[in-house]
Amino acid sequence: MQRRLPRPSEILPLIGTPDRSKSRLQRRLERCASVGDIRELARRSTPKSVFDYTDGGSMSETSLDRSRDAYRRVEFTPRVMRDVSQVDMSTNFLGKPNALPFAFAPTGFTRMMHHVGEPAVAQVAAGAGIAYALSTLGTTSIEGLATAVPHGRRWFQLYVSRDRTQAEDLMRRARDNGYDSLILTVDTAVGGIRWREVRNGLTIPPQLTLSTILDMSRHPKWWANVLTTEPLTFASLSTSGGTVGDLLTRVFDPGVTIADIAWINDNWDGAVIVKGVQSVADAVILSELGVDAIVLSNHGGRQIEKGNVPLELLPSVVDAVGDRTEVYVDGGIMSGADIVAALAFGATGTLIGRAYLYGLMAGGIDGVQRVADILTKEIKVTMQLLGVTSVDQLDASMVRLRPY
Ligand SMILES: Cc1cc2nc3c(=O)[nH]c(=O)nc-3n(C[C@H](O)[C@H](O)[C@H](O)COP(=O)(O)O)c2cc1C
Repeated sequence: MQRRLPRPSEILPLIGTPDRSKSRLQRRLERCASVGDIRELARRSTPKSVFDYTDGGSMSETSLDRSRDAYRRVEFTPRVMRDVSQVDMSTNFLGKPNALPFAFAPTGFTRMMHHVGEPAVAQVAAGAGIAYALSTLGTTSIEGLATAVPHGRRWFQLYVSRDRTQAEDLMRRARDNGYDSLILTVDTAVGGIRWREVRNGLTIPPQLTLSTILDMSRHPKWWANVLTTEPLTFASLSTSGGTVGDLLTRVFDPGVTIADIAWINDNWDGAVIVKGVQSVADAVILSELGVDAIVLSNHGGRQIEKGNVPLELLPSVVDAVGDRTEVYVDGGIMSGADIVAALAFGATGTLIGRAYLYGLMAGGIDGVQRVADILTKEIKVTMQLLGVTSVDQLDASMVRLRPY
């Protein structure tokens, strides 16, 4: 074979030039292929204690690891030679359309991950046509979020305070500001023990100590944003200090019981979703009490150590109550294929927590958007390769969990 020296005019067109219409951050986000890649970018973009607060679970993190591991054990049985040129990923959550089969879960202290906080997440959710749940531990007020993103579908997540009038006030304000569903979180009778928070000495709000000051030199942008925007406080609580676990234990009522569903119904006329259900027995009790939906969840592995795995519990709960109560699942979801698997196992839909928070930490609103785009594409392609064109065609014949 004869060789020759290439001419410059042949090489020049091969040299890629960055698309200058996009910011450097957008280009970095585009190079992230998966939520896992976004997580790595988030790790580099935020102080260690903030990343660990978001990324971590309780104690040995077995509950979190096992939830993620369950999704790694998913095995699909695709059907081929079906026309999958058109795919409809939309579904119905609590009587209203949801353009994709997931919603953004409530997460506390969101402005600590990135100063744009809850409004940025809600804006991406509204653009994608999915619901966003504001937490009682949010850093944006009920009214502030409704004003910032008036067009989106909003849910409000309630932790019941020891002072019940405070919880009643939150429900009234959520209702008055157009939040259509209430998520009552019940897996937090007390705060979980989170070793990473203890080791990092993370308090709410973060304190200026020698190690945080050292950290400033590594993450000056994050610190500048925190120090030059609205002070980081809980928007719906007048108290702070200590770790989040301490706060959950100090402020919220460990005496909440099943009888309180009647109290909720007296104070809330929209849909009621009970989040944090971890057994068939409790699912049946709640369903018989007429709650509209339950979320099988162990708080993303942040509460009980060695909890059971929501995905593994899903089929038996759907069998027991699925004909009268919507069953959602969360914990450990890192891809669109995970979401499709949960739907095939019978879930009405899924909630996403850390995945969007990684996006937020990695790149504010652009990062959250990138995560939504990655999940959307992965759901679509997984459905097409499975041979289905709508969410209601997914069923248990298409999926199994490989044994350990
Ligand atoms: C940083 C962080 C904060 C959270 N804060 C709350 C909260 O305030 N209220 C709540 O009901 N759940 C909270 N959760 C749990 C989520 O709503 C959801 O159940 C969990 O994140 C799902 O698991 P995943 O993160 O693996 O998707 C939080 C989760 C994370 C990661």
